[in-house]
Amino acid sequence: MTCLSVHPVATPLSPLLVTTDFTAIVAELRTIGVLFDRWATPVNLSADADSETVLTAYAKPVEYLRRARAYQAVDVVKVPRGVENAAALRAKFMSEHTHSEDEARFFVEGAGCFYLRDDDKVLVAACEAGDLLLIPAGMRHWFDMGQDPFFTAIRFFTRPEGWMAIPTDDPIAERFPPFEA
Ligand SMILES: [Fe+2]
Repeated sequence: MTCLSVHPVATPLSPLLVTTDFTAIVAELRTIGVLFDRWATPVNLSADADSETVLTAYAKPVEYLRRARAYQAVDVVKVPRGVENAAALRAKFMSEHTHSEDEARFFVEGAGCFYLRDDDKVLVAACEAGDLLLIPAGMRHWFDMGQDPFFTAIRFFTRPEGWMAIPTDDPIAERFPPFEA
């Protein structure tokens, strides 16, 4: 289930708030400039659908978001269950970093967890199928796909040449509880 928790940086293991309520999640994330939404999952989308089929199934909301945010490119990323290089893949985004453009993700299936830093607190958003999360450019964050990663997500890019992580070199992520899907 989609869950949001708010943790003080000083005491990561003692959340100030834990909620699974959609309206509360939207409101809480809005206070730090992060957009959260839910899109209806098409009933006819099979689990082994290829990228083109996924993008066709979500054509309307994808196009709406592209126009609204002037995103130039969209793709689909798939991490299948039992993926060979799971630990390395997971480690890639587990340290605090920023991007010079938005990180916008829609979860088609599976799950993953974003840790969003706002000064002295971190908002932890565990996302699942149907969830859209939009992290604005420049926000400190990290992502945990869990020990047994599994997800398919639509990614939106401002510039077609893509987006890269800029490490903050702050080891804060090590002090936070990992994501357990
Ligand atoms: Fe990122």
